[in-house]
Amino acid sequence: MSQATSLTKETTGFFSYTRSGGKEIEPPYEKPVTVPAAENKHPSAHAWADARFATDIMAEHALFFALLMPPEVAGPEREEAISFNKTFTDLYQQIDSAGPPEQSALKSFASNFTEAVKPFIDYKARLGEAQATGKLRSLVWPLFFEHTQHEAERWTRRLETLAGGESELDKDEVSTFWTNIMDEHCRFVAHLLDPEEFELIETAMKTSHVFRDLHNHGAIAGAAVAIVHEPTTVVGSLVENPETNAILSAAETLLDFTTKAARGIEAARIKSIIDPRLSDHVRRESLKFVDELKRAV
Ligand SMILES: [Fe+2]
Ligand SMILES: [Fe+2]
Repeated sequence: MSQATSLTKETTGFFSYTRSGGKEIEPPYEKPVTVPAAENKHPSAHAWADARFATDIMAEHALFFALLMPPEVAGPEREEAISFNKTFTDLYQQIDSAGPPEQSALKSFASNFTEAVKPFIDYKARLGEAQATGKLRSLVWPLFFEHTQHEAERWTRRLETLAGGESELDKDEVSTFWTNIMDEHCRFVAHLLDPEEFELIETAMKTSHVFRDLHNHGAIAGAAVAIVHEPTTVVGSLVENPETNAILSAAETLLDFTTKAARGIEAARIKSIIDPRLSDHVRRESLKFVDELKRAV
């Protein structure tokens, strides 16, 4: 990364998460996740890290759409997706090499990000509707359009908050947003696994149910409902500690599951039609959830 030379004093202090927890990354698919250090609450630092994370995520959404749009059935939509992939890849590189914005440039930095995301939100909404009504017959599920639209809208809200000088994360917002995202990731994984992967499909569906309960009922009641619905599920720590850390435990368990799944898919130990870039994408979003939960107040 090239930000080291351009950091101002108050924005210094970042670190990168890796799958292993060490310095090595697992080529060719692992992307580390860079976040402000725990004590770094400077809005510029958070705006830079979040915009950098989200532009890479948006570039990948566009790539996944293109992969799921055969030219025979979705030619123009695929071309648009390829063009969005280029827009966000370029913006990511620009943000990465420029480093965190000066305080005085924070508002324009954030609006530059949100203006770039707006047309992509429109695209996701428009194509989601077309796919749901049968006007478009791509291989992108309506829920995948909707899911990625919600992510784009959330990163837009986050950058707007940061532009106002507020870096604090709200526990309710973090939990509500990400429990829904995690529920949907589990269902995406379940439906992209080879139908022979009985056990993993079942684990993914049960885990989705747990996150749905946490989303619908909140941490304490949600944990209680989840234990009734899925007493044997992977999220065993819910049973031990439902009051204090139900959502964090569930998030950490899912991070572990998605990390193992990414490695298994890369090594072809797991049979699926999941592109390894998609499994690492889902893993990084689990990681971001865990990181945000630990910071949120
Ligand atoms: Fe995503
Ligand atoms: Fe996602």
